[in-house]
Amino acid sequence: MKILLFSVLIIVLIVACHCKSDCDKLADILTKWNVEVNWNTSDGCCASSEVIFCNSKNDITDLYLEGKTISGDLYDIIGEFNSLQYLCLNNNNLSGPIPESIGNLKELKYLDLSNNKLTSLPDSVSKLNNLEYLYLQNNEIDSELPSKIGNMENLIKLNISNNKFHGNIPDSFADLHELRYAVMNNNELTGNIPSNFHKLSKIEELNLNSNKLRGEIPVEVGQNLNINNLNLGNNFFFGDLPKGLSYETLNLEYFCVENNYITGTIPESFYTDNTDICNNNSQKDMKSLPSSANRSLNSKLLIILINIIVIFYLLF
Ligand SMILES: *[C@@H]1O[C@H](CO)[C@@H](O)[C@H](O)[C@H]1NC(C)=O
Ligand SMILES: *[C@@H]1O[C@H](CO)[C@@H](O)[C@H](O)[C@H]1NC(C)=O
Ligand SMILES: *[C@@H]1O[C@H](CO)[C@@H](O)[C@H](O)[C@H]1NC(C)=O
Ligand SMILES: *[C@@H]1O[C@H](CO)[C@@H](O)[C@H](O)[C@H]1NC(C)=O
Repeated sequence: MKILLFSVLIIVLIVACHCKSDCDKLADILTKWNVEVNWNTSDGCCASSEVIFCNSKNDITDLYLEGKTISGDLYDIIGEFNSLQYLCLNNNNLSGPIPESIGNLKELKYLDLSNNKLTSLPDSVSKLNNLEYLYLQNNEIDSELPSKIGNMENLIKLNISNNKFHGNIPDSFADLHELRYAVMNNNELTGNIPSNFHKLSKIEELNLNSNKLRGEIPVEVGQNLNINNLNLGNNFFFGDLPKGLSYETLNLEYFCVENNYITGTIPESFYTDNTDICNNNSQKDMKSLPSSANRSLNSKLLIILINIIVIFYLLF
């Protein structure tokens, strides 16, 4: 009998813990964020506004809270809105880490946290395998890309530009077989472009400008027939641009490799009259890119050489 009572108590407790409605939880968060809660909580939030949408069980599915001058943390409790499909908190003043619990939002299709001051991205984000759009640009995220990022098998658009992402691009990145836009410029990514990049068969835009990537540009980047916007400028790539059949079918609208250590000329198969080369058609006419980077490399070598001569002169 005691055991039975105890079990009933436990069950009641468990049920009670799940009793708090999404609207009540949202009211708690908004209060912490100093955002006015303008619905009568006993009626719920679902029918009360144009920024909150719910399903028939009154679970929140869409939350559009962009540009509400919200300051503070993105609290763990955000991971308890299990029915969320669209979450927009962009253009606020959110700071601190994106919580681990974000990985619990299994229904999420659209996540926009851009233009805040968020500082880290948890690996758990790679559990969001229904996510199609991930916008994190213009934050202060100082993380590596999750090693299992390839598990986000429905991802179409990724924008992480203007952050402090560092480390290598994980090999699993190439498993993002629905990815069309990979905008990753202005970060601190290192290492090579993974040579399995040709697996990104739907990629249209790849922007890696202003990172710390190095190595030769793999021919695999050009084995992609859908790519029309390829920006690899301002890195440490070196060597000749890969020539070969795979590039003959490229039809780039935008192509940029400026400020690397790339030698030789841009193979003519890379561009048509309509290709915009780093917004600068005069560079295309030169057919030798990027002259400024070559010059600076040559002048660096010259300075090193002069230094060596001076040291020898002083020593002997
Ligand atoms: C909220 O709604 C309940 C029930 O409809 C009502 O009794 C209460 O007065 C309302 N409160 C406010 C602040 O409007
Ligand atoms: C943004 O948040 C920081 C704390 O994280 C605070 O010091 C600052 O005043 C906030 N800015 C605005 C415009 O609310
Ligand atoms: C990515 O974010 C940058 C910075 O805000 C923006 O300029 C760019 O248009 C975005 N690109 C895409 C494809 O979303
Ligand atoms: C275009 O390239 C030329 C020659 O390299 C350079 O002098 C000029 O400043 C460039 N213009 C722009 C807009 O980048």
